[in-house]
Amino acid sequence: MPTPPPPVDALTEMEASAELKQLAAAIRAHNQHYHSQDAPVISDAEFDAMMRRNEAIEAAFPHLIRDDSPSKQVGAPAATHFAKHQHSVPMLSLSNAFNDEEMCEFDLRVKRFLNLPEAAPLAYSVEPKIDGLSISLRYEEQKLVAGITRGDGVEGEDVTANIRTISDIPHQLKNCTLEVAEIRGEVFMTRTDFQNLNAEARAKNGKVFANPRNAAAGSLRQKDATITATRPLHFFAYATGEMSAPPSDSHYEFLQQLKAWGFVINPHSRLADDIETALQHYKKIADTRHELAYDIDGVVYKVNRLDYQNRLGQVSRAPRWAIAHKFPAEKTETRILDIDIQVGRTGALTPVARLEAISVGGVVVSNATLHNEDYITEKDIRIGDLVLIQRAGDVIPQVLSVNVKARDGNERQFTYPTTCPSCGADAVRPEGEAIRRCVGQLACPAQSLERLYHFVSRDAFDIEGLGEKSIAELHDDKILNEPADMFRLVAHKTALKIRDGWGELSVENLLTAIEERRRIPLERLIYALGIRQIGQATSLLLARHYGTIERLAESARHAQDESSAAWDDLINIDQIGASMARDLSRFFTDPHNQDALNRLCQHITIIPPKPIASDSPIAGKTIVFTGSLTQMSRAEAKAKAESLGAKVAGSVSAKTDYVVIGADAGSKARKAAELGLEVLDEEAWLAFIKDL
Ligand code: IVH
Repeated sequence: MPTPPPPVDALTEMEASAELKQLAAAIRAHNQHYHSQDAPVISDAEFDAMMRRNEAIEAAFPHLIRDDSPSKQVGAPAATHFAKHQHSVPMLSLSNAFNDEEMCEFDLRVKRFLNLPEAAPLAYSVEPKIDGLSISLRYEEQKLVAGITRGDGVEGEDVTANIRTISDIPHQLKNCTLEVAEIRGEVFMTRTDFQNLNAEARAKNGKVFANPRNAAAGSLRQKDATITATRPLHFFAYATGEMSAPPSDSHYEFLQQLKAWGFVINPHSRLADDIETALQHYKKIADTRHELAYDIDGVVYKVNRLDYQNRLGQVSRAPRWAIAHKFPAEKTETRILDIDIQVGRTGALTPVARLEAISVGGVVVSNATLHNEDYITEKDIRIGDLVLIQRAGDVIPQVLSVNVKARDGNERQFTYPTTCPSCGADAVRPEGEAIRRCVGQLACPAQSLERLYHFVSRDAFDIEGLGEKSIAELHDDKILNEPADMFRLVAHKTALKIRDGWGELSVENLLTAIEERRRIPLERLIYALGIRQIGQATSLLLARHYGTIERLAESARHAQDESSAAWDDLINIDQIGASMARDLSRFFTDPHNQDALNRLCQHITIIPPKPIASDSPIAGKTIVFTGSLTQMSRAEAKAKAESLGAKVAGSVSAKTDYVVIGADAGSKARKAAELGLEVLDEEAWLAFIKDL
């Protein structure tokens, strides 16, 4: 089971920084799999979840945003199943402004750069910022010869065949004499078309898109252009790439020129004589954006004169002559009708406000997150309160604050549950953590799917042929509810064989794979239970220490009393701390888990851990590793020594039998010499254990 990530607001700076680093590397690797190798190893949803997690951490810790952050990458790198194509003129991105002041600063910056008087009016072309994907169209002798995606701005994908299916894009330019004209603009889908496409996809069990932008991108990047042809894509033209001659003197004139050549330009684009007029037009667009048929996420201001644009040039990857004025997150007031607790797939309890439905930014909102228990207390949020809610982009709406003045005394305080609303098991909140979690991990319906995925995974029961999709299907049909059901599948043999996409052979193979796992090593069983914080290494330690699942369960139950001998015994196991011990004890104390485990144990034979080699010359000896080893990691060296029956200690004392010294060993090596202990270097150690 992937360890559930802690909530962002529970992260320390160090943890946040480490996670951002790890996410940057992982997302880069997955991007590589997806785009360059065309072989994604995780689902789109999992990928999106990683991106969202990255964004959430960056939002909470903006000073930790990395230079190589996935959120900073300009578009996606070019895929290989479309030919790569270098842009003759790079496709830039835009810098952003979030309010009128920042826009006025932009205006002053431009004037200073051009050495114009600050009070002199400077004209802008003001255009909606379309939320689609940008494309560069190349016309040679007025004929469309190429359509290239932005890619990373330098190199994109050749999607010419797909582009040709879009009716807004002329194949031949009218009234144009230019030898080369590269026209850039946005491919997009209307909200209604997006909803219809998704409705169709749902009916056919096909791919559903998260928003119109993804739908447009997904439709355009079809390997088979006849599929693109069936998708309702549109195009607004708004910029140039390589041009054999300048098309006009100003950007606004150029837009009119585009129309004459046969393109569609956005009808809400305006020429503003100065920044004040531009800001007024921005406001008009912002106020009426929900009446548009397509999504826009801001307004683009472009210095109108092309000679100025040329002088201004670009900085980094954005032009100095244009900027995007983004829309603020939308806020509105509504009433909390009730507060519900949702149990996530990892057992986390999340409070959700059920709201009097209200339209925020064109979307009807009836739920908002309340994050966690402390959030409700800190903001003193009560049922019946009038609250301010916010919706930004695709993010879940959130409750920002309470309108305390509007209270009439009928509001009710919410009592946070201490049991899981899904299964009734205890819901506990470990000290220092923000999230309360259900401990009924094995039996809780809200968590069962995640548990099952973990249960069959490679290091657990390792059941081949049972992927997440099949598990989800069987879970939906209530055939697979808990681990024990895995071994009851054989009873459904005939029914399984006639399921869509299963087939005789694959069912036989699956059932054979399951049969083989009826004998399972104890450490795998412990790991497969998916107890919080109990990974593979700890499972092995526990298996060795307790020898049977019954003894482990019994001791863990007794360890609930932290003054008991069972507790002492548990936390004295090397590497098991109090927090892990508590998770173990909670797991085995919960009656739902006990029952589910008992049901499972009726189907399996548990193989006790191999007795630790007592005939090995280092059985029972205490070894200390110090300095850096070159041939194996410290963890591997330790595991090997332990498998030979040795105890690995962290510090040198008179009780130490051997000290293995790697490079740059410091005080421990000196102490070993002082105590006259047996000291081995890495080579000698490897030679010593080679044949054991
Ligand atoms: S002009 C050199 N105009 O926004 C400037 N871009 O965040 C080229 N976009 O990559 C862009 N509507 O995909 C421009 N009216 C508009 C736009 C627009 C949407 C997109 C475009 C660009 C991105 C930058």
